[in-house]
Amino acid sequence: MTMNDGIMETTAPKKRMLSGIKPSGDLTLGSYLGAIKNWAERADSYECFYFMADLHAITVRQNPADLRRRTLEQLAQYIACGLDPEKNTLFIQSHVHQHAELGWVLDCYAMFGELSRMTQFKDKSAKNADNINGGLFTYPALMAADILLYQPDYVPVGEDQKQHVELCHTIARRFNGIYGDVFKLPEAFVPKVGARIMSLTNPTAKMSKSENEDTGRVLVMDTPETIMRQFKRAITDSDTENCVRYDRENKPGVSNLMTIYSACTGKTYEQIQTEFAGMGYGKFKPAVGEAVVETLRPIREEAVRLMKDKAYLEGVYRAGAEKASYVAEKTLRKVYKKVGFVAK
Ligand code: TYM
Repeated sequence: MTMNDGIMETTAPKKRMLSGIKPSGDLTLGSYLGAIKNWAERADSYECFYFMADLHAITVRQNPADLRRRTLEQLAQYIACGLDPEKNTLFIQSHVHQHAELGWVLDCYAMFGELSRMTQFKDKSAKNADNINGGLFTYPALMAADILLYQPDYVPVGEDQKQHVELCHTIARRFNGIYGDVFKLPEAFVPKVGARIMSLTNPTAKMSKSENEDTGRVLVMDTPETIMRQFKRAITDSDTENCVRYDRENKPGVSNLMTIYSACTGKTYEQIQTEFAGMGYGKFKPAVGEAVVETLRPIREEAVRLMKDKAYLEGVYRAGAEKASYVAEKTLRKVYKKVGFVAK
């Protein structure tokens, strides 16, 4: 048995991991470093379920053609990042009807006050004041259903999703408290480095896929030229020391770049500080850009290749939905029985 990032790895039956991403925008470096990189690194040691959260995506208005393209592209990117569909269950959320069904049941076990306190709900309602719909509000209950259907041990997510995983616990505990041990309580697994990648032009805001290009985001599918341009434009701090040193509070711009460089190269902050000692920000920014280019290059190239093979992608998501449904159905049946629905 070995310890890796606090997670026990064992040769006994594999532990289960589950996570998802909304295809509400093109994947960013943040989605990669905060989530998928972690999934891919553990794909062989865990039984993994990863999905494209299209049901969640429509809580904000989507262009249908873009949503379809992004869902497929996201699947291609999952595979290109190292998630082998033979070993991992990769599926589209709307193909597994049990998500919506358990989502409804859990709506009835999630409290208004709890849902109102969710940071993401508050942020998204502020940004979409003309579309504060019911789905945006009950989103965490659907997310709890996504998770609990599969009884996973770990949910690998970035920092911003921790609150939702905690609410999932609250809902599961409430349900178990009434009906007995129906749901397993999973742990959020947040990476030590890369859990919160900030915008390159506003290092106090999260790098987000739903923002536009000028907001300092880097996409997984960006060309090397675009990536280098974005890093050269990255905001560094207006202190006078012009020195590469990690200090989130006083040097958010440089610290964000150090996090990105560390996550891409595996170097510690101390090693990075030594490497760039006396060089200033002018040398550091393109070096981070190059590390990102090299990290994303193989992923982009493989995803582009896979996107040309629609039949292959279709085979993957169909098989994935079948496997996922099998597991999800068992949990849903149990839940329906517990709450008192008549069996079909
Ligand atoms: P989403 O689509 O906003 O983000 C997907 C994953 O990427 C992480 N992430 C980041 N990590 C670090 N820095 C960033 N700038 C950054 N931006 C995004 C997120 O934390 C997340 O892990 N509600 C979820 C999707 C979801 C889900 C689930 C996740 C639906 N059902 C069940 C886990 C389990 C979401 O909106 O993630």
